[in-house]
Amino acid sequence: MSARRPPRSAAHELERYAGLFAARTSMMRSSAMRDLMAVTVRPEVISLAGGLPDTTTFDPALFARLTASLPTAEALQYGPSEGLRGVREAIAAVMAAEDMEVDADEVLVTTGGQQAIDLVTKALIDPGDVIIAEAPTYPGAVPTFCAYEANVIQIEMDADGMNIDVLEETLDALAAEGRRPKFIYTIPTFQNPAGVTMSLARRRRLVALARERELLVLEDNPYGMLRYEGERLATLRSLESPSGSSDENDFIIYTGTMSKILSPGVRVGWLTAPRPLLAKLILGKQSTDLCSSTLAQHFVAAYFASGDWRPYVDSLREVYHRRRDVILDALAEHLPAASWTHPQGGLFIWVTLPEYIGTTDLLARALAENVAFVPGEAAFADGRGRNSMRLNFSSAKDDDIREGVRRIGTIVAEQVELFETLTGTRASRAEPLTPGVADPAAGEALANVLELPRRAATEGRRSRKA
Ligand SMILES: Cc1ncc(COP(=O)(O)O)c(C=O)c1O
Repeated sequence: MSARRPPRSAAHELERYAGLFAARTSMMRSSAMRDLMAVTVRPEVISLAGGLPDTTTFDPALFARLTASLPTAEALQYGPSEGLRGVREAIAAVMAAEDMEVDADEVLVTTGGQQAIDLVTKALIDPGDVIIAEAPTYPGAVPTFCAYEANVIQIEMDADGMNIDVLEETLDALAAEGRRPKFIYTIPTFQNPAGVTMSLARRRRLVALARERELLVLEDNPYGMLRYEGERLATLRSLESPSGSSDENDFIIYTGTMSKILSPGVRVGWLTAPRPLLAKLILGKQSTDLCSSTLAQHFVAAYFASGDWRPYVDSLREVYHRRRDVILDALAEHLPAASWTHPQGGLFIWVTLPEYIGTTDLLARALAENVAFVPGEAAFADGRGRNSMRLNFSSAKDDDIREGVRRIGTIVAEQVELFETLTGTRASRAEPLTPGVADPAAGEALANVLELPRRAATEGRRSRKA
């Protein structure tokens, strides 16, 4: 037997490969949620961090029946890049439930909604191209936009979603420089991470703006079916194309996912897009993974063929609605110094703390108390969001949610007390959804807490220059 090599330091290992990395890797950022998952799988940690649906609610007997029913040879075979017919039809049915008429042929099945974001960015973005997103935006989209070296401009939101006046001003300012965004990325309904929903009036204005200025909009809608109160609002996709004809759909790229209505483990999402763009996106998918898992797609097709899928979504809605109320009550009890949003659906609440509290540092303290959240900076490409955090309320049980918020409340109270003692002033509450100014040290601080590969890439660059 050969002798075991002594372990090398991570820095040494990196140096060996540094000269090989593509320049774009220096822009790559780690997904804060993925990093946190390594910590939050520990049973003693109460995680309010991930966006995990509660998969324990899925009936194991149904799961066993469905998997036993899959056609073995076909399920184990490659499939078409566009996706299996049965899945595309199921997707058309899901979209119809949100008043969007699409033909199954217009649907591209993707490996989760995450891949839809990746494919759109891959097809449209050259280094330096502008993407407009909300402030804050989906933390999982930030690493994608960074990997393709996009220039991400984030537009403030309030309780009615993206501020369209600010968007117009930004578009004007860009136009004055001879620039235009390649696309606008928005999660209009129960936004991740802010939990707010764009009003109907703003949706109409955004669609009109897209038409007027010929701008593509990527509408990401994983949570639309998870409404706990209020009236359903038309999607941008249905506002642009009221008759359902794809010929009218010139500017909206729409993405959805099975992750929040069935299971994230199946990794089945989808997109629809204006036809010429769809053709490019299919090419992009072929180079990425040929096709999404046929095995998983057969499971999804079998699930939708087995009966009505809506009662399960109703049952999820009931569970999450209760947990949303639990977390709102717990916040009111334990975080007097904070402000937060009031989501009418979805899985997230965005909490804004006094400006002097940095949530990246706070996370280290929180993890020592066995509770986790996503620090606000993960939702910005520009280092803002340092005094905010995203809390998820779908995956922890009610008592754990209460206890997790209590622990966060205790460590926030320590910070408030420290600040008041040191400055002799009383702290004021920050308004909800104020993104704050960028902290130049923010990226490094986050890297220190979460061991991000981004540091590795920076080190790689440095040593290449040296
Ligand atoms: C806004 C948003 N988009 C896309 C995704 C990706 O989900 P998936 O790849 O599981 O479909 C998520 C997951 O949390 C999300 O919140």
